Amino acid sequence: MKSDSLSSNSIFFNFDLSSLNTLHLNSYAEYFVEIENIEQLKVLTKNLKFRNMPWKILGGGSNLVLPPKINGLVLKINNKGLKLVSEDNNFWYINSSAGEIWNDLIQWTLMYGYFGLENLSLIPGTVGAAPIQNIGAYGVEVKDFIWEVNCIDLKTGVEKKFTNSECLFAYRDSIFKKMSHSHYLVWDVTFRIPKNNILHLEYGDIRAELKKLSLKEDFPPHIAQAIVNIRQKKLPDPRIIGNAGSFFKNPIVSKVVHNDLLKKYPNLVSYEVSVKSVKSDKSHISDKEDNSECKVNSYKLAAGWLIDQSGWKGKKLGLVGMFEKQALVLVNYGGSITTSNEVQKLATEIINDVKNKFGVQLEPEPIFW
Ligand code: EPU
Repeated sequence: MKSDSLSSNSIFFNFDLSSLNTLHLNSYAEYFVEIENIEQLKVLTKNLKFRNMPWKILGGGSNLVLPPKINGLVLKINNKGLKLVSEDNNFWYINSSAGEIWNDLIQWTLMYGYFGLENLSLIPGTVGAAPIQNIGAYGVEVKDFIWEVNCIDLKTGVEKKFTNSECLFAYRDSIFKKMSHSHYLVWDVTFRIPKNNILHLEYGDIRAELKKLSLKEDFPPHIAQAIVNIRQKKLPDPRIIGNAGSFFKNPIVSKVVHNDLLKKYPNLVSYEVSVKSVKSDKSHISDKEDNSECKVNSYKLAAGWLIDQSGWKGKKLGLVGMFEKQALVLVNYGGSITTSNEVQKLATEIINDVKNKFGVQLEPEPIFW
């Protein structure tokens, strides 16, 4: 229902968000507005009725668990624009508006020969969401390509740029995920792409897929094609079945915990990683809480394997379940009648089962509003 018109904004009241979140959960925003340019945003930040309400920022809705009712104003960021802003001997600097679809940016870089982002092909969502959870896939994380994140302070309407180090990137984490920074809206992102592109082919089935498709190992558009194929085979298409990609982070444990688990479960799937430091009192550590620069070798466990071994692969609870081809992906079979309560119930059961069986604490990857 349309409620209000600001000079260039249309504000809707009691707006259905089920088609704007990839889990397709039942969710209504008290107020909703689409933002295409900075003037629209400035008008809103000065509007007395709206400026005092809570604001929530929506990108592609691919990493969110939305509640049935959202109080205040939901802003969908739809600004568009992709350009090469500068280059030197070593790097291309590319700027993308937050509202661009992530995979459109990848396709554009591949078309112009700015290679480097190919392993991040087909990750759902918008460019603005990419730095928030430091998206990653197939051995690559977006933090390695982000030069600067340009935000708007929603309290003042003033721009604030965050350099790469100010973003405090970690595994699926950044400063923007923290509550105290939720008043910053990501408006555009500048990427710095090295001209001597390092190819990452070692992860998963990339090499096998390239061979199967008779594609070249050293040509990034071919690597992108192989990754698109792998993702399409393994992950459910959110247009057909609601999901938010990986629903849990891969937990990181100390060497001691890892070795104990390996003795009990010789098939354990894990990767050695280097994190800033280990909290000795916890099996699950996260480097976001750590200020120490001490690097310690730890192990990332495959959450998909832990969930699979706990018997949840392909299993349903009410209208939701864990995908039959990939236990890490929570899927919604009920469409827009399913609510976040059902998602929460299933997530809690899985967290408890994995904790009881392996003593490891899983943490959801999507953000719960
Ligand atoms: N596994 C199972 N059973 C399952 C699923 C996985 O046993 O049902 C085992 C397999 O042995 C597999 C291993 O777990 O080799 C790891 O699984 P996979 O490679 O499928 O997933 P991942 O490495 O844990 C991460 C990202 C994905 C990303 C892939 C590919 C996280 C939480 N997830 O998954 O990201 O696409 O790597 O690089 O880090 C996303 O964030 O939404 C996402 C899909």
